Amino acid sequence: FRQMKESPSDFGTMIYDPGYYNTAVCKSQITYIDGDRGILEYRGYPIEHLAENSSFLEVAYLLIYGDLPNMEQLNLWNTKIMNHTFIHENLIQLMKSFRYDAHPMGMLISSVSAMSTFYPEANPALAGVDIYKNKQLMNKQIFRILGKLPTIAACAYRHRIGRPYNNPINSLSYTENFLYMLDRLSESNYKPHPTLTRALDKLFIIHADHELNCSTATMRQISSTLVDPYTAVAGSAGALYGPLHGGATEAVLRMLEQIGSVENIPAFLEEVKQKKKKLMGFGHRVYKSYDPRAKILKSVTQEIFNLLGKNPLMVIATELERLALSDSYFINRQLYPNVDFYSGIIYKSMGFPTDMFPVLFSIPRAAGWLAHWVENISDPELRIFRPRQIYLGRRGMTYVPLENRN
Ligand code: ACO
Repeated sequence: FRQMKESPSDFGTMIYDPGYYNTAVCKSQITYIDGDRGILEYRGYPIEHLAENSSFLEVAYLLIYGDLPNMEQLNLWNTKIMNHTFIHENLIQLMKSFRYDAHPMGMLISSVSAMSTFYPEANPALAGVDIYKNKQLMNKQIFRILGKLPTIAACAYRHRIGRPYNNPINSLSYTENFLYMLDRLSESNYKPHPTLTRALDKLFIIHADHELNCSTATMRQISSTLVDPYTAVAGSAGALYGPLHGGATEAVLRMLEQIGSVENIPAFLEEVKQKKKKLMGFGHRVYKSYDPRAKILKSVTQEIFNLLGKNPLMVIATELERLALSDSYFINRQLYPNVDFYSGIIYKSMGFPTDMFPVLFSIPRAAGWLAHWVENISDPELRIFRPRQIYLGRRGMTYVPLENRN
């Protein structure tokens, strides 16, 4: 592009691409999406096979290190992560200082950000060693982030309901321990129901990565400055917090509640077709066929309902999907259910309050963020992200002293 400059002051060719919709900012080997055919693969493995056969931590290993672990590697990985589930007492004090009704996502973002002050070894400017050349040091931060996120999330939840925090139990599995920390007070022999644990594991697997979604692109952008991973994860979680990203699940639930009963669906769809409303949980920027994650979620809802009874909102959701998928408006525009359409119903049925939804999204997505962190900082072609703009403002203004301005 530089050769295309006509004069030294000319910036050369630039592409105006709001939201980077048509710009590839990196090369990656982590996640493959074929939006037309509804294909999602982590490191080449179809998401359906991983959701069916793997645990979340196994998938996290695959995303970060590129291969499925063997038994020995998996045992070590599980142990390393579960050994890092406890959080520093001062971090607990910090969490206790939040308002009684603080949003759990605000608590999570602040606490992860604060973790950078507990582990200066992860900050290249303070550590005196180059963390990015030291695999052991990088791995330690990965263990800590994956290990402590569920504990922080559970503390945020417990803070919100005004109950004391529960210590993690490291002999439980990752999701089992998370469910345990959320719920129980003193029943030391309590174990979450295996169906709930497995359902949450599947939800975590399908939410773990989705190539350069907004929060992962944020991870790429922030980590291009070589800042410590805690600050980078906190920034990524900040992007996820937005209603257009991690907030869509909540919007689906509100929409289903507003529709209220199946008789109201045709009138609601009419309003959607007149563009007065949006069918939340439908449509996707990349998928122009059925989102493969929504298919998996549909089967998970069944497993949950078999255990806990059917959520009345599911009747509305199923009929809404049936009517929309047989309507030419939605067919012609290739609008199908996306991952958010069913996940809110599952979380609600499991008893999670709506404001925990983005937190439940952040825990597994951290595995994806960390995979992109590792790939990004190991990329010999990495450059600090610095997009350009098309300046449309004024120029050459004459400064007017304050007393002369009217
Ligand atoms: N309900 C009704 N109509 C829709 C919807 C929808 N959910 N989505 C798209 N359309 C219509 C548009 O109005 C447009 O119609 P037109 O051709 O008559 O103008 C046509 O379909 C194409 O829409 P685009 O905006 O070009 O679709 P795009 O791919 O850019 O949008 C998006 C994707 C933003 C996800 C959109 O489908 C949407 O807003 N969906 C609802 C919100 C949602 O569920 N978000 C979660 C996405 S998944 C995730 O982030 C984890």
